[in-house]
Amino acid sequence: MRIEVVGSRGQLGRELLRTLARTSHQASGHDVESVDIRDPGSVAALLDDVRPDAVINCAAWTRVDAAETEEAAADGVNVEGPRVLAEACRPRGILLCHLSTDYVFDGTATEPIDEAAAPHPQSAYGRGKLAGEEAVRATLASHLIVRTAWLYGQEGPNFVLTMLRLARKGGALRVVADQWGSPTWTGHLAPALVRLVERGTPGTYHLTNSGSTSWQGFAQAIVEEAGLSVPVEPIGTADYPTPAPRPAYSVLANRAWERLGEAPLPPWRDGLRGYLAQRAAAPPEGATT
Ligand SMILES: NC(=O)c1ccc[n+]([C@@H]2O[C@H](COP(=O)([O-])OP(=O)(O)OC[C@H]3O[C@@H](n4cnc5c(N)ncnc54)[C@H](OP(=O)(O)O)[C@@H]3O)[C@@H](O)[C@H]2O)c1
Repeated sequence: MRIEVVGSRGQLGRELLRTLARTSHQASGHDVESVDIRDPGSVAALLDDVRPDAVINCAAWTRVDAAETEEAAADGVNVEGPRVLAEACRPRGILLCHLSTDYVFDGTATEPIDEAAAPHPQSAYGRGKLAGEEAVRATLASHLIVRTAWLYGQEGPNFVLTMLRLARKGGALRVVADQWGSPTWTGHLAPALVRLVERGTPGTYHLTNSGSTSWQGFAQAIVEEAGLSVPVEPIGTADYPTPAPRPAYSVLANRAWERLGEAPLPPWRDGLRGYLAQRAAAPPEGATT
C-alpha cells in the first residue's frame, strides 16, 4: 500500500515512518511546514501528488493546558484539520486513520472503557479531539478512529523524559497517584496502526499497551528501569493543579482490536523497557538522557 503520514515530525509520526520503512509499503510523511491539514488546497495537492491508499493523521495540537486559553487555535488543528482531511479523502477513495485520545472521557469510569462508552470530555483539548472524531465519522465512511493514551516516543517531549531529567537532578520526585491510565510506547502502537490500516475494517478503536498504573506508578517504574534510586512520593491531583483537568481514570479496553482477532499490545512496562533500550541504542540528536 501507499501510506501517507501527516504530522510526521511528531513523536508518533516519526515512529510510524520508521515502522513503515521496515515493511513493503511505500511511505511518505509531511508536517505543517509542507502540508497544513487546516488548508484544503494544501491537503488536496498532497493527495493528488502522492495518491495514497491510506492517510494516517498524527498531526495535532497536543499542548493540553494551552488549549484551555487557546481553544480556537487548538480546534483549528484538532477539529478543522481532520474535517479537511476527511473531505479530501472521500472523493479520492482514501482510507483515513485518525488519532484521538483517552481525554475524550471524563474519568468517572471504574473499569476499562470500551469503544461504545459515551465520551464526556472535561478539557478544551478533549472537547476538540472529540469534535475532530465526530467530523471524521460524519464525513467519511472509510475511517479508522484510534484512541490512544499516555503516549511517549523516541523524540519526546513526554513524561518519561521529564521524569528521567528530574530524577537525574536528584531529590525526591512527587508524582500524582490518583490518576490512572495505560502508558503507551509509540514503538508498540505504530505497528498496530499499520496492521489496522492493512486490515482496513472501519470503526473506532482503543489501542494502548496492556495493563494500567498511576502516574506515580509509572514514574516509579521509569526510575527503576533506568537504574536510578530517587524516591517517588505519591501526591494527589489537588497538590498538582493544572489548567486542564485530567481524567482520574482513563484505562481503555482494546475490545474492537481484540474482536479482529489481534493479540493485545504488550504490557506497559515492556513498552517502557523497549523505549529505554531504543533510546540507549540510538539516542536522538541532541539528547541528554
Ligand atoms: N502525546 C500523548 O500523550 C497523546 C495521548 C493520546 C493521544 N494522542 C494523540 O496522538 C496523536 C499523535 O500525538 P503526538 O504525541 O505524536 O503529537 P506531537 O508529537 O505533538 O506531534 C504532532 C505533530 O503535528 C504537527 N502539526 C501541528 N499542527 C499541524 C497542522 N496544522 N498541519 C500539519 N501538522 C501539524 C506538529 O507540529 P508542531 O510541533 O510544529 O506544532 C507535530 O509535528 C495526536 O492525535 C494526539 O492527540 C497523544
